[in-house]
Amino acid sequence: MDFNEHTATRAVQESFRDTPDPRLRELLDALTRHLHAFVGEVRPSIGEWEQAIKFLTAVGQTCTDTRQEFVLLSDVMGVSMLVETLNEHEDGTEGTVLGPFHMVESPPRALGDSIDLIGEAQPCLVAGSVLSSDGNLLPDAEVDVWQCNEKGFYDVQQPGVQPSGNGRGLFHTDSAGRFRFRTVLPSHYPIPTDGPVGRLLTAAGRHPYRPAHIHFIVQAEGHTPLTTHVFVAGSPYLDSDAVFAVKQSLICDFTESNDAETAARNGVQAPFRHAEFDFILSRKLT
Ligand code: BEZ
Ligand code: FE
Repeated sequence: MDFNEHTATRAVQESFRDTPDPRLRELLDALTRHLHAFVGEVRPSIGEWEQAIKFLTAVGQTCTDTRQEFVLLSDVMGVSMLVETLNEHEDGTEGTVLGPFHMVESPPRALGDSIDLIGEAQPCLVAGSVLSSDGNLLPDAEVDVWQCNEKGFYDVQQPGVQPSGNGRGLFHTDSAGRFRFRTVLPSHYPIPTDGPVGRLLTAAGRHPYRPAHIHFIVQAEGHTPLTTHVFVAGSPYLDSDAVFAVKQSLICDFTESNDAETAARNGVQAPFRHAEFDFILSRKLT
C-alpha cells in the first residue's frame, strides 16, 4: 500500500496495532488520528512545519530544573486545566493548575505564623477549615501554601531580593480541622514571557497575566489530595486568566478591616485584610 494522503493515517495506526499495553495502544491510535486530521486540515507548507519543529525544540531547550516551558505551553493552551477538570471529584472543592512555582519545599510553620518574611506591605489574615466530603472536620490535614508577594513576584524569581521561603508555608490543621496564617495580599502577575511561550502569546496578541491568587495543596489521610488556588475577588484578569484556571467557586473576598481587637489577637496592625476559605476533600474509595 502506497503511503499517500488517503492511506497515511491507517498505515501509522496499523504500525501501532501490536503495542502490548492496551492503554498506550489506545493513546497512540487516537494521537495518530488527531495529528493527521490536524495536518490534513491546515495543510502546512514545509517551511511552516519546520517552524513548528523549531518552536517545540525551543520549548524543550528552555526547560531546566527550575523552569518547565512544556507545562507553560500546556497551561496557555488550556490543556492543563482541561486535564484537571476531567479528573475532578464532584464532591470536593474544585481543583486548578499546579503552576511552575511549587519547585521548592515549603518550610514547615506553626498555625498563625506569617509566611511574609519582609513585613512591609499591609498584613492579611487567611484562615479556614479542612473538611471531608462527608462533612467531618479533618484534624492534622496538611495545608501547603505558596504565593507571590504584593508586587507579583515569587521568592524563586527574586533570589537575593526576597529571602528563600518567602510566601511559602507548610501547615497542619488543629484538632478542630482549622488552619490560619498571616501573609500579604498577592498581586496579579504575568506568567514567564521570556521564552517561546511568551513569543507565542505576543504573536497571538494575548496578554500573559494571571489574577491574584494563593496556591494550596491540601491533603489528609484517606482523601484525594487537592491542588487548587484561592483567587482574590476584584482582582484584574479574573475574566481572562492566561492559563484559564479561574473557577467561580474559588473566588474569595479579602476584606479590609480596622478591627483593633482582631488585629492585636493575630499580631498584626490595623488596617489589615482577611479571608476565610474552607477546603473539602474527596474521600478516597477503598
Ligand atoms: C502560577 O500560578 O504560579 C502559574 C500557573 C500556570 C502558569 C504560570 C504560573
Ligand atoms: Fe501563581
